[in-house]
Amino acid sequence: MASMSNEVRTRSERDTFNTRLVFLMAAIGSAVGLGNIWRFPYVAYENGGGAFLVPYIVALLTAGIPILWFDLALGHRFRGSTPLAFRRMSPKAEWTGWFKVGVNFFIAIYYAAIVAWAAIYTVKSFNQGWGDKPDEYFMGDFLQADTSVNYSAQFVWPILLVMVLVWIICIVALATDINNGIGKLTSIFLPVLAVMFIVLVVRALFLDGAVDGLNAFFTPNWSVLTDPSVWIAAYGQIFFSLSIGFGIMITYASYLKPRTNITNTGLVTAFANSSFEVLAGIGVFATLGYMAAQQGVGVDEVVSSGIGLAFIAFPTIINSMPLGGLFGFLFFGSLFLAGVTSMISIMEVVFAGVADKFSIPRKKAALYAGTVMAIVSCLLFSTQSGLVTLDVMDKFTNNLGIVFGCVCALIMVGWVLGRRTEIAQHINAVSALRVGLVWEFLTFVATPLLLVYFLVTEIMSLIKEPYGDYMQSQIGLYGWAVMAIIFAIAIVGPLLTFRGSQHLDGLETSDYGVPAKGRPKGTPNPLANPTAHN
Ligand code: ALA
Repeated sequence: MASMSNEVRTRSERDTFNTRLVFLMAAIGSAVGLGNIWRFPYVAYENGGGAFLVPYIVALLTAGIPILWFDLALGHRFRGSTPLAFRRMSPKAEWTGWFKVGVNFFIAIYYAAIVAWAAIYTVKSFNQGWGDKPDEYFMGDFLQADTSVNYSAQFVWPILLVMVLVWIICIVALATDINNGIGKLTSIFLPVLAVMFIVLVVRALFLDGAVDGLNAFFTPNWSVLTDPSVWIAAYGQIFFSLSIGFGIMITYASYLKPRTNITNTGLVTAFANSSFEVLAGIGVFATLGYMAAQQGVGVDEVVSSGIGLAFIAFPTIINSMPLGGLFGFLFFGSLFLAGVTSMISIMEVVFAGVADKFSIPRKKAALYAGTVMAIVSCLLFSTQSGLVTLDVMDKFTNNLGIVFGCVCALIMVGWVLGRRTEIAQHINAVSALRVGLVWEFLTFVATPLLLVYFLVTEIMSLIKEPYGDYMQSQIGLYGWAVMAIIFAIAIVGPLLTFRGSQHLDGLETSDYGVPAKGRPKGTPNPLANPTAHN
């Protein structure tokens, strides 16, 4: 076995988060992101308002929490980046980890652009630098968007500059050891985000028309509950928002100490994420209620989602609001902070995969992989064609990439390798709350079936109707071709040989007193290790 001096880490020498609180900051920081602030309010409103909370809670309990425990258990037990964790389970599972690395590569490169826009708009808030017509400004002066070409090499310089800064911040954070990098960054950003967001929501609640907005948001339309697309939306929201199925939680959990209460940690993360989500719904709809009252129209006429909500509707509202500059600072600042803490977790999946595969220190992995990602990201998203590229890539990587990667992982672990009981026993060996057959059924039967249904429906609708009325070539390039590249990464990743021997490390052990399937009981139980994350 190689020594620490040439930076090859054995399984037991892997870095760990100093305390469970630091891990929670990282995990909640990853979960709370753009998905909470701009995706949830709109998805909930579109899918039955108050009634959406029913499928949302069902999705959280039947898939969100069970899969979060699954991801955490995998990372914790096999103590590796996503490809390494799967590889340690079985060489034939390694490709699943690389598939997730591919998905995260593409999500990270467009996420950086949105984080950069949020940073710029935070500064612009003070003097409402978007002028009187925020819609025209956003598409025109700001993005200089050209939607008619596949690729434009015309850079938008301010965006390029800020994107480079965002990449530098994230790469530096990830090049540092996990406690001083991910740990410190999330431990500072998350509390600041919470305070800023609570101030924002309280302010929003006192705006004229806020009550109408909240009524629009919460008034239940029960008839939607029989519509399958509403249930799909709820499950999709939970997966994206909780950062499950990405490989993020597998990677982060690989840095947990051997004694860590997994179920408890998962519950705290899920509860914090959903609380933030509902809070965001309240804040956004109170604000939209104000906009509707100002314009003398119904709330239904002012709601929008994603990019339109943040960069067009909110600036419009800020323009007409007393102390709008402060409100804008709180909103875009929150978007920036939430975006950065999610973006680093997405990048970490790629960096950790590279570091483990090539046995290089995380600093080098962050520098090499980060530079490649930053270059591709800037080339694609800081030019005039960036908006279309972003929208198409977001749709495909989320709705197909994450879902497919998650189904494959569940089927591979649960059915191809038959490790259902081993994972359940692992969770039970370290957690206070025990899982049993219900968890196994939800994780390895119900969720995969549902996700396959989701996937087939989505693929059929993408084939039938080009997404977003974009040109076929744009969808081909940034949608289907991106998916093909992700598959290529999944094929090529396992073909490259692992440098060092850490992928073999610990395969004979019966860690946590739970025998690894097909392996003889062997080395000491790591629970004997006094360090704990309780
Ligand atoms: N969970 C992250 C978000 O909500 C990816 O944006």
